[in-house]
Amino acid sequence: MTESALNREWVALSAAWTKEAREGRNANRNGLLDPPMLAACGEVRGLWALDCGCGEGRFCRKLAERGAAHVLGIDLCEPMIDAARELHGESDHYRVADVQELNFIGDETFDLVISYLNQCDLVDFEANNREVFRVLKSGGRFIIANLHPMRSAVGHWQRTEDGTKEHIVLDRYFEERERHWRMMGVDFTNFHRSLETYVSSFLATGFSITGIIEPTVTPANLERYPELDDELRVPNFIIYCLQKA
Ligand SMILES: C[S@@+](CC[C@H](N)C(=O)[O-])C[C@H]1O[C@@H](n2cnc3c(N)ncnc32)[C@H](O)[C@@H]1O
Repeated sequence: MTESALNREWVALSAAWTKEAREGRNANRNGLLDPPMLAACGEVRGLWALDCGCGEGRFCRKLAERGAAHVLGIDLCEPMIDAARELHGESDHYRVADVQELNFIGDETFDLVISYLNQCDLVDFEANNREVFRVLKSGGRFIIANLHPMRSAVGHWQRTEDGTKEHIVLDRYFEERERHWRMMGVDFTNFHRSLETYVSSFLATGFSITGIIEPTVTPANLERYPELDDELRVPNFIIYCLQKA
């Protein structure tokens, strides 16, 4: 599928996506991924940070609130960037751009780069790795949240007749491919790749892997978001912590 066809899907999704983000209703973000993502970012005060595929700017605002000196959010979807600009503060800025081609950014500009559920959407995630490596300062970090490859492979539940979840079906893991599904009423495409494909590319690009996190739900968050109970059984997401030596 071409980049422009993929972008049309995001344009169609953007209004519902922005509404949900602004209402703070997304349990996966609030109860599962944000805490380990923020912990992986660590102290951001004074840093220059880039968010690849920032959507409506949610995580950029969090970095800015935590004292990052300069936050640039980029996204190919214009309505997402328009929405992000509506809420921007002094240190967060937004631009329509393709994360696979960052030629408007000089070498060694950023201390920290985020990719929060964006690499699964890319035709060429390796181009994004190369560009992020180039724009990171030496010692800079790249924190990536992605779909867990075990779930992107197939990932639906086998259920009994009364609907009880028995187990997740895992199949066609080694078949890297487009996945087609429906999200917020829009037909939607992203990509399944194996763990080996992702990790090999990070290492080949020159990154060190300083950590891998498989987020699960804490008892407190499970109480707030009971719909996250699956997360105690199977991993939905993975966070890669990378560093440019
Ligand atoms: C799953 S959303 C995540 C948004 C945001 N990071 C968040 O956590 O709310 C993925 C985002 O990646 C953007 N995207 C997809 N392909 C892109 C590309 N090639 N360059 C820049 N952004 C892209 C989409 O427009 C969408 O906003």
